[in-house]
Amino acid sequence: MENERHLTEYVKSNGLKYHIITYGCQMNEHESEKIAGILETLGFEACATKENADFILFNTCCVRENAEHKTFGNVGALRKLKDENKGLMIAVCGCMMQQEEVAQKLSMTFPFVDIIFGTHNIHTLANLIGECILEKKRVLAIQDQDTLLHENVPVARHTWPLASVNIMYGCNNFCTYCIVPYVRGREKSRSAQEIIQEIQGLEGYQEIMLLGQNVNSYHGEGMDFAALLEEICAQTSVPRIRFMTSHPKDLSDALIDVIADQPRICRHIHLPVQSGSTAILTAMNRGYTREQYLSLVNRIRERMPDIALTTDVIVGFPGETDADFEDTISLMEKVRYDSAFTFVYSKREGTKAAEMNNEVAESVRKERIMRLVALQNAITEEKNKEYEGKTVRVLVEGLSTRDNNHVCGRTDSSKMVNFAGNKDMIGKCYDVDIVQGKKTTLFGRMTQKQG
Ligand code: SAH
Ligand code: SF4
Ligand code: F3S
Repeated sequence: MENERHLTEYVKSNGLKYHIITYGCQMNEHESEKIAGILETLGFEACATKENADFILFNTCCVRENAEHKTFGNVGALRKLKDENKGLMIAVCGCMMQQEEVAQKLSMTFPFVDIIFGTHNIHTLANLIGECILEKKRVLAIQDQDTLLHENVPVARHTWPLASVNIMYGCNNFCTYCIVPYVRGREKSRSAQEIIQEIQGLEGYQEIMLLGQNVNSYHGEGMDFAALLEEICAQTSVPRIRFMTSHPKDLSDALIDVIADQPRICRHIHLPVQSGSTAILTAMNRGYTREQYLSLVNRIRERMPDIALTTDVIVGFPGETDADFEDTISLMEKVRYDSAFTFVYSKREGTKAAEMNNEVAESVRKERIMRLVALQNAITEEKNKEYEGKTVRVLVEGLSTRDNNHVCGRTDSSKMVNFAGNKDMIGKCYDVDIVQGKKTTLFGRMTQKQG
């Protein structure tokens, strides 16, 4: 406590500013908000550029190899800034630092990095900074696992009218290609009461994104995810509720019913399929077959014909034959997703798939990803065109990147819409006539203001 007071005095009297660079998924984005919350509580101020910051943090991802390369490159590039400003503090944290050998390598390669900490050490950040500033130590804090849930970590949100709320941490699924369970530890669900209290405290926010690696396996004190959603709808007044990610193997009919019955739950499910081939899905340990996945999609669409579905796909998983890949193509043609994130398989040391010795040749992987991307782009564009002439309700999130006379926001189905407007419209909902559906965005015209 005493130390924390000294630290706050030091930070404030020196007017220290922080800048966070975040890689990876929404989970990491949200954790950066917690890191920012701790820093702002200590008196640090946010700063838009790393050049003007006194404390630069990298929140890293390691889900694919190129994520790792990027981090090493970008941390290395800070050497010059550190040479020019000896007082500059640099920290690296996040999933990549949970891999011990990688953290060691980073620490050896870049001796100018002051603090390295893992995903299970975020709640101790104030102490780590104290050791670094007050005791002038280089700090390395990586805890392997954490069975505790750390509530009451302050969150600095800079994304109004949207806010993310964790409902769970970690993952138990061990898909054979994936590093996440190793770096994030076992699944832990927050209590429904904590989640609801957090959402109740977010008055003024228009949309809440509930986060978890597999929200469908949420279990808080006997409550499953469907029940949690109902409870959130009953006890909070947030206009829009989203969630991600939904693992197909755990998506219950009860959940489909809740989404269908609750108009405040957005009509969009991110439902990663990963592959259209049952043989590959089995090798991936995904827990469903192609047929089971397609039947799930049918059940969802029967109940909600207007629902938007998006997905993640991996090509070039070890042993993926031409026939397996054709199964993925045909599944994409059948389901016709609104959009998809497509990845080339990346070998992650320590996972089961890394030990498989039937790797797909680089050139074949490249060909496959190109075909898949071209197919999905065409489908996405066709689907966007189907919006032309329709009126959609858009929650305005901000000014458009094009100019200050346009705003952008999302439909319930998560389509990005651009239309003429100004900054006073941010955080409000408008009905918009869609004039043009392009590759990634819809363009429209406001019909009537409804607050
Ligand atoms: N928990 C979420 C996603 C986590 S990672 C889920 O299960 O859906 C996000 C996406 O990255 C995954 O859906 C997968 O498509 C991709 N991914 C994960 N590991 C990968 C690897 N080793 N190579 C390529 N893509 C990978
Ligand atoms: Fe990784 Fe599978 Fe867990 Fe998603 S569900 S985080 S892909 S192991
Ligand atoms: Fe997310 Fe990357 Fe970690 S995808 S959970 S930040 S490994």
